[in-house]
Amino acid sequence: MDKNTGIYRNLTSYGDEGFSKYMRRAFLASAGYDQEDLSRPIIGIADTTSDYNTCHRQMPELVSAAKRGVLESGGLPFVFPCMSLGEILISPTSMLYRNMLAMETEEMIRAYPMDGVVLLGGCDKTVPAQLMGGISANLPMIQVVTGPMRTGSVKGERVGACTDCRKFWGEHRGGTVSAEEIKVIEQALCSTGGTCMVMGSASTIACLTETLGLMLPGGATPPSGSGDRIRNAAQSGRRIVEMAREGLTPSRILSRNSFENAMTVLGALSGSTNTIVHLIAIARRAGIALTLEDFHQAISKVPLLVNCRPAGKGYMEDLDRAGGVPVLLKELESLLDLSAKTLTGKTLGENIAGASKAQSWQDTIHTLEKPLGKTGSLVTLSGTLAPNGAVLKKAAASERLFLHKGPACVFESPEDAARRIDDPSLKLTPDHVLILRNAGPVGSGMPEAGSLPIPRYLAEQGVRDMVRVSDARMSGTAYGTVILHCSPEAAVGGPLCCVRNGDMVELNVDERRIDLLISAAEMEARKKEWKAPGKPLRGWPKLYADHVMQAHEGADMDFL
Ligand code: FES
Repeated sequence: MDKNTGIYRNLTSYGDEGFSKYMRRAFLASAGYDQEDLSRPIIGIADTTSDYNTCHRQMPELVSAAKRGVLESGGLPFVFPCMSLGEILISPTSMLYRNMLAMETEEMIRAYPMDGVVLLGGCDKTVPAQLMGGISANLPMIQVVTGPMRTGSVKGERVGACTDCRKFWGEHRGGTVSAEEIKVIEQALCSTGGTCMVMGSASTIACLTETLGLMLPGGATPPSGSGDRIRNAAQSGRRIVEMAREGLTPSRILSRNSFENAMTVLGALSGSTNTIVHLIAIARRAGIALTLEDFHQAISKVPLLVNCRPAGKGYMEDLDRAGGVPVLLKELESLLDLSAKTLTGKTLGENIAGASKAQSWQDTIHTLEKPLGKTGSLVTLSGTLAPNGAVLKKAAASERLFLHKGPACVFESPEDAARRIDDPSLKLTPDHVLILRNAGPVGSGMPEAGSLPIPRYLAEQGVRDMVRVSDARMSGTAYGTVILHCSPEAAVGGPLCCVRNGDMVELNVDERRIDLLISAAEMEARKKEWKAPGKPLRGWPKLYADHVMQAHEGADMDFL
């Protein structure tokens, strides 16, 4: 433990402590800081602004607000940049870099002098990464998100990213939306800065972070650019100075109960399947082991309450207007451990003591008495295709496919699928099960390629859903009967590597099974014939492929 605090924490190693301190004062004098400034608690502000990340477009005003809050509370703010993971512009997938941002965040917190840190994130992988790094560094920390975009409109129809992006693209592939219409639609889908405004990965992880007690109450849902959003950043700046003085670190906040609560909220949201992987990784950094069975146990007890796309109809601005996470937590009170600690210094129960229950004037947060959907909105599966587990967003899948047996059509990689999915010579029928392999963590960084498009000639016949199975992820904004995260993945010899075209595959959601209907002896024989695909030869992709763990373990690096 560093005995120094403030600007003298984490001294640069010159072999002379006095010299190190003197040099800090000298160089900081050039930035206009005097002794009084430097005697204050130092608060780092992790800034992930980037022109490549439109979800963080309004982050600069949050940086200003957080700095103002820190100064108002008597701290001294220091902004430092961290890599920005903009989901849409990054190749091959932002997931490949989640662990890199987690490492960067942890190492910057450890390397620079700071007594507490405000983590500014938003887009899908940034918040899980910041939580992972911040928890490992275990300095007082507070998460602020950029907040969701507001909805746009097309011919009077309210639209938003990215469930509607997918819906219109599916219609375009099916021939019911023209290329000209798509040009108009694409101008309306992302009408402001901010994160995807449905219950995708960014929205889900924001709600779960608030539930975990690592964000101020009410911080998850205010739209990007709103006064509420800016006030949350300023309040977070004020609170982190107090937390630094109190020494309120993540290890003093997080417990198994915090994560049990988060899993319950995940079920009530029918949140993104991606957050299962993230939550396992975040808990692991706190020394808490979560299994897919833990998710099943928690989610099977809670009905779907929140009416947001893709499982419902609304958007994040509706959830915010309905009172956001505090009202949802109040509604779920009987299913939560209210003694879980939070960064306010109070328990979760104390935080929501003054919150109202879901109100009848809104249709976004339903009550436990009149839920929007059944319990078990997300389901974890196992079977011969996924001995260590797989996941399905049941609330966004087609009930008619919950018991389905069909012949496999195998794609060797996301690129192979993109090349051949529309090839009529495959002679696919709606009963086929589309298999995508080598798209897991080791295989290709686990891209959001699992929701394979419906082959164009079937889409033109009106087919809108088919059973799809992969070791990939899918966007939290996507929907369909899509079995994801099959573990172990094909690239390390998991059973997906054995599937051949025409093999029968069976999905049984009630029994939580996904099976390849071949004998165990045949499976073994095929495994013996299997050859591992080549791995990246250098740089971060090599380090990642050599050390990333499987999806059911959170896809973190084995050395972190
Ligand atoms: Fe950034 Fe959806 S692309 S949150």
